[in-house]
Amino acid sequence: MSDLIAVTGATGGLGGRIARRLAQSGARQRLVVRDLSRVPRIEGAETVQASYEDPAAFAAALDGAGVLMLISATEHPDRVALHTAAVDAAVAAGVPRIVYTSFLGAGPECTFTFGQDHWHTERHIEETGVGFTFLRDSLYLDFLADMVGDDGVIRGPAGDGRFAPVARDDVAAVAATILQDPHAHESATYDLTGPDLLTMTEVASVLSSVRGSQVTFENETLDEAYASRAKYDAPDWAVAGWVTSYAAIGAGELDAATDHVMKVTGHPPMTLAQVLQA
Ligand SMILES: NC(=O)c1ccc[n+]([C@@H]2O[C@H](COP(=O)([O-])OP(=O)(O)OC[C@H]3O[C@@H](n4cnc5c(N)ncnc54)[C@H](OP(=O)(O)O)[C@@H]3O)[C@@H](O)[C@H]2O)c1
Repeated sequence: MSDLIAVTGATGGLGGRIARRLAQSGARQRLVVRDLSRVPRIEGAETVQASYEDPAAFAAALDGAGVLMLISATEHPDRVALHTAAVDAAVAAGVPRIVYTSFLGAGPECTFTFGQDHWHTERHIEETGVGFTFLRDSLYLDFLADMVGDDGVIRGPAGDGRFAPVARDDVAAVAATILQDPHAHESATYDLTGPDLLTMTEVASVLSSVRGSQVTFENETLDEAYASRAKYDAPDWAVAGWVTSYAAIGAGELDAATDHVMKVTGHPPMTLAQVLQA
């Protein structure tokens, strides 16, 4: 099997972290990005331009790769079609394995609407018969601070639901480990979470102590959540994704803290306080 690892999303937070880790390990990698002018400087990496929207270019970019790290596309109304086009292009190019960033609790009717996209993408990958590993990430710890409004309040229909958000650094560590030995993780699905099950009230409390200013959580009904986001004038599908990420917590669908980061990497996952202080 070719030892060449193709990595998408290297201009972004997760893909960039994966590429840096692979470079530190001396792995042979090719970064497949949409815009070569924004590709990070990664020692020893090949770079090539292609997007999921252009299957012919994407397939050509994957020529000779032994495994593809497929970072899920930025949220989009046709995201499943973009993902399936990328998967089909990889299969057409003869790539034997795909590692895909999915979402914890992905299901055809899961509350978090973007999780439904991930479920459909996973099923398509399986149906092609290509080798796969799915990384079902919990919400990213990195983004919790961005949920705080200008008035120091996190608002959403999360109630007292618990979730164990995970650091992108830990997801990247898992991905880099798997990409260098994909055969050992074939057909595995990992639920990647942080170490601590937290309610939004507890998240607010950790944010308060690290920031040194008060952050609180205010529960909203679904109707209140849609109404409070109307000011952004965003498309319905995007607002539904934002609101249902909280609703999924409230429904208990993200109530899982696993040992999968530890199992794959050998180190414990980061806490919210560690991510905020890093
Ligand atoms: N679990 C969570 O809490 C959570 C939160 C946010 C996002 N996510 C998902 O996790 C993914 C990775 O997170 P991140 O923080 O690394 O996001 P990010 O910083 O926005 O990076 C996304 C990367 O994917 C690339 N990309 C997006 N659409 C593409 C397409 N159609 N064709 C080719 N490349 C494409 C982007 O390229 P450009 O630089 O050219 O845009 C970028 O490099 C996101 O894309 C999203 O699907 C999960």
